[in-house]
Amino acid sequence: MIEAAEKIISCFVSGMANYQSHPGDPRSFSRDVEEALGVIKSLNIEHFFTITVSDENSMFINGIRMLLGKSDARKFFLKLRKKGVVTVVVSKGVRAEELQRFLEDLASSVGFFHSYAHIAVKRSEQKPRSDIFTPGRSLKDDYLQIRRIYSDISVKGHIEMTAVDAVMGRLIANVREEVGLLSLLVPLERDVDDLYIHSAKVAMLSILQGEHLGLGNALLYDIGLAALLHDVGKTLLPPALLDKQDPLSEAEWAVMKNHPVYGAGLLASLSKIPEIAIIVAYEHHRKYDGTGYPETRIRRRKQHIISQIVAIADFYCAVSASLPHRKPLSHTSIMGLLVETAGKEFNPLLVENFVRAMAKGKSGAETMKA
Ligand SMILES: [Fe+2]
Ligand SMILES: [Fe+2]
Repeated sequence: MIEAAEKIISCFVSGMANYQSHPGDPRSFSRDVEEALGVIKSLNIEHFFTITVSDENSMFINGIRMLLGKSDARKFFLKLRKKGVVTVVVSKGVRAEELQRFLEDLASSVGFFHSYAHIAVKRSEQKPRSDIFTPGRSLKDDYLQIRRIYSDISVKGHIEMTAVDAVMGRLIANVREEVGLLSLLVPLERDVDDLYIHSAKVAMLSILQGEHLGLGNALLYDIGLAALLHDVGKTLLPPALLDKQDPLSEAEWAVMKNHPVYGAGLLASLSKIPEIAIIVAYEHHRKYDGTGYPETRIRRRKQHIISQIVAIADFYCAVSASLPHRKPLSHTSIMGLLVETAGKEFNPLLVENFVRAMAKGKSGAETMKA
């Protein structure tokens, strides 16, 4: 076990060093990750293995104390300590993309860890400040970034995660500090049907709900990212359909209704995308009672709770937008509609949370404006 643990740590350290010398190129350390994964699999662990940093000078892997001389173990230990990590639990079924993301987070200078399906990271109370969470000066810059992210995905089949991290960090910080919240609550006359503005607004309103539920950074990031990309499938629809000023015909609606499937397909083809973004892209037009689209064979299959959060934000943004053939609904009417349809279209507990979060956000934003 001790040799295997040393080998895994050496692969991690070499992977982080390769990542730091070629930060934009995930292939630079994919071999290290694959090698580590091979050793992890060969351990035939029943459930998981655990790395713990217990005090100033010791690190244990599955309870075995590692020697920290001038070894890779020491380098790894120092990295963990610098980031305030006390425990890492890697569970059975861990995938290369997750390990890769974890090592990138550990190697980077930012004090933030994404969420990973098979890796849990516990940090000490005095963790370093997460500097991706700083508010942005202009939402306009974010819209441009989002436009670029959407076009990278649909045209190049690629996603630039550093750009995504920057946008997500700013959106989360903006929600926390109530920057631009008022613009979410008041219908705008211009640009309201713009896909990127819509996506940013849905992301902010989804983050607002998560924040009000008391969720931490890693989950808020995943919720925000899933919301930001929920309509990415629309980039594969004919532009004339998206720009159409009149109501859609039945045939056009049939085409429009493909965007969740297209979006999920686009996102599934990318590495590094949290699975939840694929699920939300697919499910955001399904409803709490199992209806909606895309239709599934298992009609009663419940939407994921994060899809339910995004569906509420999406509804709010869609009906508060002003279109040539339809006036925007007022804030009060939208909230009334949400409450009326809670339990059928939307999760009633989440609607309740949304109503409270909006009441708080609205009064906060109005106080700031005054
Ligand atoms: Fe949609
Ligand atoms: Fe949408």
